[in-house]
Amino acid sequence: MSQFNFTVSEVMTKKPKPLSDQLTFGKYFTDHMFVMEYHHQKGWYDGQIIPYQPITLDPASMIFHYGQTVFEGLKAYAAADGEIQLFRPDENIKRLNRSNERMCIPQIDPELALGAIKELVKFEKDWIPNAEGTSLYIRPFIIATEPFLGIAPAKQYKFIIILSPVGSYYKEGINPIKIAVESEYIRAIKGGTGEVKTAGNYAGSLIAQEKAEQNGFSQVLWLDGYEKKYIEEVGSMNVFFKIDGEVITPALNGSILAGVTRKSVIQLLKHWNIPVTERRISVEEIEIAHQEGRLEEAFGAGTAAVISPIGELSCNDNKLVINDHQTGEISKRLYDTITGIQYGNLEDTFGWIDKI
Ligand code: COI
Repeated sequence: MSQFNFTVSEVMTKKPKPLSDQLTFGKYFTDHMFVMEYHHQKGWYDGQIIPYQPITLDPASMIFHYGQTVFEGLKAYAAADGEIQLFRPDENIKRLNRSNERMCIPQIDPELALGAIKELVKFEKDWIPNAEGTSLYIRPFIIATEPFLGIAPAKQYKFIIILSPVGSYYKEGINPIKIAVESEYIRAIKGGTGEVKTAGNYAGSLIAQEKAEQNGFSQVLWLDGYEKKYIEEVGSMNVFFKIDGEVITPALNGSILAGVTRKSVIQLLKHWNIPVTERRISVEEIEIAHQEGRLEEAFGAGTAAVISPIGELSCNDNKLVINDHQTGEISKRLYDTITGIQYGNLEDTFGWIDKI
């Protein structure tokens, strides 16, 4: 039993762990998972840490038909002093509940959610890799499990947490990636679900992602759904552009995901007195700035991706090479500072670390 009365059942045989320096993203899973049930007459109940295993669901479970689901992504780090550190988990849990609200999924007590994350990570601490740039990715998610074919919010759910030891999200590691501006498909519009972490946003983006990969790009850069002029996000991360010494990121407008790393980047830039602006920014503005030699840097920011420099942006037939395909000064400083805090090598002056 844990302090939250989660029951624990342990695996008989533990899996071999992958070598830290061979990790990519999201391929390996730890020995245990967390599962908790919801019933509309009982609330959330029966939290358990159990062996990692397939889940059995009724084929009529509403998740399969109408996609009522939300998820989060955060990481646990093995700090230099042997402690286990989480980075701003309260922000992820707040966003989980915002996503729940939008998707008509019941709220979850933040302390209970954080307690479940911490208990599971503590239980699986031997799985936290310690090679540079590696961590234990935490994926909490909620699915609608009520067997019913009518369109309505479900009355039953499962909250599940799985853990995955990870390395870099992109095969390029922290080297600059190539991104293609998507001009045919759109990811989200204001009033839709773009600002919440729900599966459908990602399913709907796959076709463009496939096209981009076939053309040699890592990801697509999404534009606004009305005019297809203004930059939104990359789908796995938020984006920033440095033009004439000012760092610009698209303002949260209802269709962009409010990234925890995005928020941290803005806070750090302000702290360093580097001008940072959240506003609408068009592809045309980027193209002109590039043409005039004023586009100094571009990078993405996300939990999985951390800080990912963008070395090339393709807008239709216009290929913009940014900073000579090199990692920019600000991208490097942000990466070093954020990871320095996450791994406990730099002082946590912002109070972002939650130790387990
Ligand atoms: C994350 O950065 O944690 C995400 O959830 C993005 C996902 C596409 C890997």
